[in-house]
Parts: sequence; structure tokens; C-alpha cells
Amino acid sequence: MAVVSFCGAVKIHRMKRIVILISGRGSNMEAIMRTAAAERWTAQIAAVISSQPDAAGLDIARAADIPTAVVNHRDYSNREQFDVALAAAIDPYQPDLVVLAGFMRLLTDNFVHHFAGRLINIHPSLLPSFIGLDTHQRAIDAGVKFHGATVHFVTSELDCGPIVAQAVVPVHVNDDAAALAARVLEKEHQIYPRAVHDLLEGRLVLREGRVVSAEVG
Ligand code: GRF
Repeated sequence: MAVVSFCGAVKIHRMKRIVILISGRGSNMEAIMRTAAAERWTAQIAAVISSQPDAAGLDIARAADIPTAVVNHRDYSNREQFDVALAAAIDPYQPDLVVLAGFMRLLTDNFVHHFAGRLINIHPSLLPSFIGLDTHQRAIDAGVKFHGATVHFVTSELDCGPIVAQAVVPVHVNDDAAALAARVLEKEHQIYPRAVHDLLEGRLVLREGRVVSAEVG
């Protein structure tokens, strides 16, 4: 906790809290963990929660002594019940930001509204192109010359929330989906930590449905 004295008044800044949701490998989660530690963010990763009990990312989080939990979607008969349990697992951490990092579940409107303005995702395409799955193969099939990744706020409409950050990579003529995915992933690991930190620090703000620099107007 940082205490700042300003003209006699005392302001108390609590550590910002991040909860990361994963379903698998967790390389974006790891990039955020590493950057937060290297740059000594005044923010902590309060918990990592997985929808899959065997997600490799859970081991990475445990090794870093980050509290982990599993909310297994197979234990719930429908999406609503799963999302209620997931929100109940997140809420005690009082997160400033809930970060979806390879979290492979569609979220209900109630969940999205509950975390509105503090729920972000990374999607492996230059949104609004290639919403949904299989983005790299679809980009190759479409013959696009540039592809990339997008960090965005989550809204009820899949992959359509306000864009926080994007990174662009070229598509090479001999690319297969795996080669292109690897090129994009390298960029994801750069833009996601940056975006998380910029939002936590208030350098980027959501204004009238768009994300803008706090310095602009
Ligand atoms: C990333 O490509 C991300 O864009 C997408 O799912 C993948 C997750 O990878 N949403 P990882 O689990 O962060 O390694």
C-alpha cells in the first residue's frame, strides 16, 4: 500500500488487484506475471482461475505462489450456473481488472454486466476481422497480408467490445496456421501486459464506448 502526502492531505493507494482467467497453456498469463514482476507494478495478480482442472497455466501460477482455483465447467449443467460459480470465485478478490487469457468459455450477459468496465480479453486477430475461432487459418484462407492480435473490453457481443490495443504482423506466403499463430503470440505477449498496466494506471480509459488515452481531452 502506498501512502502519498499531498498538501497536508493523505491519500492511500491500495495495490490494484488482477484476477486472470485461463483454460490452458497460460502463456499470456505468464507474460503478464513476468512483466508485473520485472516492472514492479503496484498491482498484484490476486488469483488465477481456470475452467479446466488440467490447464498447464495452473502449474505456472502455483510455482509463482499465486492463489489458484478451478471452476470446472463440466460440474455445471448450464452456462448460467457456471458463470454464477465463476463470479463467486472471483468476487472475494475484489479485482480492479479481470483478465481473460485463453479462457475458452462464452460468458453470459449477467456475468459480463457484473464485471462491466473491468473485464478484458485478448483475441488472436485484428478485430473486427475474424471474430470467433480458428482465426489464423481463416486469415490465411482470406489472403490477408496483415494479421495480428487485439486486446478488448468484453461486452455481450462476442469479440466486439471496445478495443484497448492491437498489434500487427505480416502474413508470409508460405505461412501455415501454426507459423502465423507463433508470430501473433509473440506480439500478444507484448501488448497484453502493456494494456493491463495502462488500464490499471489509468493511462487508458473507457470513454463513450471507446478506449482513449487519459491525456486526450
Ligand atoms: C491466445 O492466442 C489468445 O489470443 C487466445 O487464446 C490463446 C491463449 O494462449 N484467446 P495462452 O493460454 O495465453 O498461451
